[in-house]
Amino acid sequence: MSSKRLYIKTFGCQMNDYDSTKMADVLARSHGYERTLVAEEADLLLLNTCSVREKAQEKVFSELGRWRQWKAERPDRLIGVGGCVASQEGEAIAKREPLVDVIFGPQTLHRLPQLIDQAGADGRTAVDISFPEIEKFDRLPEPRADGPTAFVSIMEGCSKYCTFCVVPYTRGEEVSRPMEDVLVECLRLVEQGVREITLLGQNVNAYRGAAPGGEVCDLALLIRYLDRIDGLERIRFTTSHPLEFSDSLIEAFAEVPKLASYLHLPVQSGSDRILGMMKRNHKRELYIDRIRRIREARPDISLSSDFIVGFPTESDEDFMQTIDLIGEVRCDAAYSFVYSPRPGTPAANLYDGVSAETKARRLEILQARVRQLSDAFCQRQIGLTQSVLVERPSRRGNGQIAGRTSHNRWVNFDGPESLIGQFVDVVITEAMPNSLRGRLAGERAAA
Ligand code: SAM
Ligand code: F3S
Repeated sequence: MSSKRLYIKTFGCQMNDYDSTKMADVLARSHGYERTLVAEEADLLLLNTCSVREKAQEKVFSELGRWRQWKAERPDRLIGVGGCVASQEGEAIAKREPLVDVIFGPQTLHRLPQLIDQAGADGRTAVDISFPEIEKFDRLPEPRADGPTAFVSIMEGCSKYCTFCVVPYTRGEEVSRPMEDVLVECLRLVEQGVREITLLGQNVNAYRGAAPGGEVCDLALLIRYLDRIDGLERIRFTTSHPLEFSDSLIEAFAEVPKLASYLHLPVQSGSDRILGMMKRNHKRELYIDRIRRIREARPDISLSSDFIVGFPTESDEDFMQTIDLIGEVRCDAAYSFVYSPRPGTPAANLYDGVSAETKARRLEILQARVRQLSDAFCQRQIGLTQSVLVERPSRRGNGQIAGRTSHNRWVNFDGPESLIGQFVDVVITEAMPNSLRGRLAGERAAA
C-alpha cells in the first residue's frame, strides 16, 4: 500500500478526540493512510467538528477557507468534514464550500473508506450523515494503544434533550454498546500496556449495555467488571448527568479503589428556576445531596462541573445561586461557557434579556471563584504523596517527566523517561497555576 498521508483537525470534546483516533485507524486499515501533524503535506484532510457552541461552528468555515489554497495547489487532495456540524448542516456545507469532497456524521465515520472512494471516483461530494445505531463500533478495527492511557467509548448520543443543547440532534439518541464488546476492547488495550482507561459517553452513567442472558449492565456494574482486569490500575468516566447518579455508582467510589478520585458532574446552574428552564429535570438540592453522598464514599474526591452563564432571563439572583452552589459543593475544576443559542433547540426561541457585558462579567466572576477553590485544593496537596501514572516527558522541556494524579492534576518531576507507563509515588512540593510540581518518593528517589 502507498503511504498516503492523513491530517485531522479536531474541534470540541474528548468524544471527538476519540472519534478522530478511530477515523485514523479506519483509514490506515482500508487505504494505508499515515497520520501527519503537518496539514500542508496531507493527501486527505479531515475536519472533525463541534457545534455545541456558536464559536466552535464558526471555526469550521474559517479553517476550510485556509484549506482552499492547498486544494487549489493540488486538486487531487481530498477534504472531508465530519462531526456534529456535518451532522447538522449536511450538504449545505458543500454548497457553501464546494471544495468539500466528503461529509460524514459521528455515527458514520466507519464508512469513510467507501465515501472517499466514491468522491474520488465521480468528483461529487459524498454525503452520509445517517444514524445507523451502533453499527459504527462493529466496523472499527482493533483498538490500538497510544501510551499508557486510553479512551473507550461505551455509549453514543443523548436522550436528555436539555433545552440549550444540540447533542441529541447531532449525535442521536442514547445507544449503549454491549457489555462484552466494551470489556474485550479494554482487555486488548491493557494487553498493549494501557494502565488507565476513561469510559466515554455524552451521558455515560445512562449506560445500559446488553449482557449475556438477556441481562442489562449499568455503569456501576461495568466498573466492577473492569476492576477485575489485572494490569488496569485506574478507571475514569465522563460525562455524567446528576439524575442518573445511582446509589450503586456512589458505592463504587467507596469500594473500587481503581476508580479515580475525580468526578466531572455537570450541573450548569445553581438556580432552580434556570434548571427548570434548561429541562435538567432536577433541582439544586438533588445535586448537593449527590455530592454530599459521593464525598462520604470518597472524602478526597476532586469535583469538576460544567456551567452556563447568561442563559435567557438569568438574573443576578439566579447567578449568585450558582456562585453559592460552587462554594457549597466545593467545585475545584470547571468548564464554563457563556450561553450560545443553538439553532433548532427549544431555548433558541426564548427571549434572552441578558446583555453581552453582563454575561462576560458573570463568566469572569464564576471562573475566579472556581480558580480560588482549585488553588486551595492544590495547596492542600503539598506534602502529600500521590500515585502518578507517568504519561510523557514534561512539556516544560527541562528533562522532567509528567503524569496525572488520581485527582486529574498534572505533576512535573525529575525522573527517567523509562518510568513512562508506570505508576510511581510522588511527593507534591509546589502548586503552580495549572499544574503541580513534585519529587519521586522513597526508594525511586534514591535510585
Ligand atoms: N452530557 C453533559 C451533561 O450532562 O451536561 C454535557 C455535554 S455538552 C456537549 C458539554 C457542555 O457544553 C455542557 O455541559 C454545557 O455546559 C455546554 N453547552 C452545551 N450547549 C451549550 C450552549 N448552547 N451554550 C453554552 N454552553 C453549552
Ligand atoms: Fe446535552 Fe443535556 Fe445531553 S447538555 S449532551 S442534552 S445531558
